[in-house]
Amino acid sequence: MNFQPTEEQEAVQRVAREFAERRLRPRAAARDVDGVFPVEELRELAKLGLLGVAVPEALGGAGAGTVAYSLAMQELARGDASVSVAVSVTNMVAELIATIGTPAQAQKFVPFLTSGEAIAGAFALSEPQAGSDPAAMTTRAVRDGNGWRISGAKQWITSGDHAGVLVVWAITDPAAGHKGITAFLVRGGTPGLTVARLEEKMGLHGSSTAQLVLEDVRVSDDDILGGLGGGFRLAMMALDGGRIGIASQAIGIARGALEAAIRYASERETFGQAIIKHQAIGNMLADAATWLEAGALMTLRAAAAKQAGKPFGREAAMAKLFATEHASKICDIAIQVHGGYGYTRDFPVERAWRDSRVTRIYEGTSEIQRMVIARHLIRPE
Ligand code: CAA
Repeated sequence: MNFQPTEEQEAVQRVAREFAERRLRPRAAARDVDGVFPVEELRELAKLGLLGVAVPEALGGAGAGTVAYSLAMQELARGDASVSVAVSVTNMVAELIATIGTPAQAQKFVPFLTSGEAIAGAFALSEPQAGSDPAAMTTRAVRDGNGWRISGAKQWITSGDHAGVLVVWAITDPAAGHKGITAFLVRGGTPGLTVARLEEKMGLHGSSTAQLVLEDVRVSDDDILGGLGGGFRLAMMALDGGRIGIASQAIGIARGALEAAIRYASERETFGQAIIKHQAIGNMLADAATWLEAGALMTLRAAAAKQAGKPFGREAAMAKLFATEHASKICDIAIQVHGGYGYTRDFPVERAWRDSRVTRIYEGTSEIQRMVIARHLIRPE
């Protein structure tokens, strides 16, 4: 499989990099402090096609595929990881509706997302007691005339307070196990949908993470995404793709941290020479650069497989596991290379370390990725 990006993919990457350099990176440290949600930036990203990189142009996307999406996500995360989270989940939701939705659903919801009008998309699967095991959810949708009423609580919902479109998973048939879970398309601001709490997090301060409460939220049969009882499978499919986004994000964060460390190590002198020339420092940076390259290649391999319509669940899980675990290590090395300065907010590496930490948790923890990979080992494709 060829991992050399095409000219078109590189063009998308360049657009994302230019935006990240001009609009994200200069404000990243301030956003980490004030936690302002990037509404304006998301609207501008929409104009560049970056809220639907792999979504067809007819639905307002860039139609550029998953490899371009991964490259763009890496660049945005390198600029400001907290903005890249909302971008990643919005892409995931837009692509899911474009792929699985009826033509009417696609027309109604996808351009709304890709144009930036919806601000963001949200993926409302997890619950306070059901994160790694989403089939244990308790949110219920009950029949009400010719529609449904959804009630329950959703936890860890990225952009949950800003999203114009949410995919909400609920149990429609409690006796049917995971086959009794259905996905619904819900507009932000629908009566009965409220934000109960916004989390105060270690990092990614420009990204909002909401607990949502649903009390008799009314939806119609037309809002069912992917068929009654088809929700669990849909979530799994979307998460396979989402994991490429998070792996890309981890690579972007780690790349930014490594670049900062190389810069610092080239300027800072001890014992009469730049510290990068000391073998102890050079070896750490060499390891970090090698891990970064390996994670990036694994992620591009998963992205290329998805784009080619081949099975990619195993590749995506491996890429997420490797890229996110090593992003933490790379950010840690970047702090170590900076010495005491790395532990201060005067340098970007402590933020990178905090921002990278959650990539090992959301869209499937490292432990879940290992579970997925192990299942593929037992039942190879
Ligand atoms: N694609 C399609 N279908 C799949 C699938 C996949 N990747 N994985 C499983 N399925 C199907 C199976 O075929 C099976 O269907 P049938 O019964 O018809 O054969 C069904 O789903 C159930 O499969 P399992 O028995 O394997 O399911 P499980 O309950 O054992 O769970 C799991 C498997 C992979 C561990 C899953 O629970 C999982 O991925 N957990 C982690 C959840 C997660 O990533 N949460 C993140 C929340 S979202 C988030 O963080 C968003 C954000 O805002 C950033």
